[in-house]
Amino acid sequence: MISKASAPGKVILFGEHFVVYGVKAILCAINKRVTVTAENIEDKIISIKSNIGDLELQPNKPISEIDSPLKPFYYLANKMIQNQNAGIKIIVKSEIPLGVGLGSSSACCVAGAAAISRLYSDTSKEKILEFAIEAEKTIFQNTSGADCTVCTYGGIMEFNKENGYTKIKSEPNFHLVIANSNIEHSTELVVNEVKSFKEKNEEEFSKLCDNETNLVEDVLELLKENNTKKLGEKINQNQKYLEAIGVSNEKIKEMIQIGMKSSFGAKITGAGGGGCIFALTDETNLNETINQFRNKSFECFSVKIDLKGLNTF
Ligand code: PMV
Repeated sequence: MISKASAPGKVILFGEHFVVYGVKAILCAINKRVTVTAENIEDKIISIKSNIGDLELQPNKPISEIDSPLKPFYYLANKMIQNQNAGIKIIVKSEIPLGVGLGSSSACCVAGAAAISRLYSDTSKEKILEFAIEAEKTIFQNTSGADCTVCTYGGIMEFNKENGYTKIKSEPNFHLVIANSNIEHSTELVVNEVKSFKEKNEEEFSKLCDNETNLVEDVLELLKENNTKKLGEKINQNQKYLEAIGVSNEKIKEMIQIGMKSSFGAKITGAGGGGCIFALTDETNLNETINQFRNKSFECFSVKIDLKGLNTF
């Protein structure tokens, strides 16, 4: 039996880091995908092949002993294979750059959970999401689960730690130009740095959380109006709050300046400290924004919102 699934990557439009402290964040799925094919095999091994390397192990190895970014696939395969006298072969194909805040690991976990679990039963989206978050925890224990949620359901959503996610009905027509600093970041490390910043600057941090809360409320209204220009101003404002908590750096600041030249606004997406930024555009300034980045030799590409989320074949 062969089972195949794909899931989109994501950007955090607003609220990263502050979301860890209870503020609402807004995320959207993007039209770049990870596709996972899973197949039952007779040999009792778990074999994973991907464009970032391969992993082949016997079942039942302790997860803590596995040092590989492909560990979530092993976790999922090992969980599902229990009591089956067989193995699983997994092939991963990704259009999403790794470790730069575009949700590649969440998309892997969601597509992996779907492809692998569906070898055995017709698993619901809710259950697939549950498995995906469990798998993601093998690489980032404190994940909020927001990334896997948006990769599963697609579209645009608000998320907070207390109430989970709510899908936002609007389907904005903007384009995002994503530029990559090519500096890999560890989300866990940057989240810890923000925690130390907060501990040293409680009052300032609390004010920034309030500001971010107000900004996100304004954004929810602007999304209903499809007001791209005003959304751009909010993006620039959010970037200032991210700079204030220290998750930017010189290279990111340079990229933000380039992005702001012709777009409506530009900010970090995800943990920062490296990774990607995005610039908000529409048809009128898309090409010019891409050219600005390319003229300065920054790798960039444009995406739109993915409305489908997890797809199974
Ligand atoms: O860089 P990413 O995509 O892993 O984003 C992390 C988002 C944070 O808000 C910094 C952490 C979190 O768990 O929400």
